[in-house]
Amino acid sequence: MYVCVCNAVTERQIDQAVRAGATSLRHLRHQLGVSAECGRCARCAQDCLRAALCEPSRPAPAVHAAHAGSSRSLALEAS
Ligand code: FES
Repeated sequence: MYVCVCNAVTERQIDQAVRAGATSLRHLRHQLGVSAECGRCARCAQDCLRAALCEPSRPAPAVHAAHAGSSRSLALEAS
């Protein structure tokens, strides 16, 4: 589904941008051009952003993964 007609940005592209680290409409505007022209897509883009951020199948952010790895290392060291 097209979210931003002016820049031909799809919901899938927004999802990919979130997976790459986008967390705000400003990030989407910078990376994809969403809401950079007429702005009519801002609300829908924000909804897609929220949905992508809340998606349970999303991999954990790198910070959490790194933290989990260090905890595992500590657990292994303790045993
Ligand atoms: S529809 Fe996205 S800027 Fe116009």
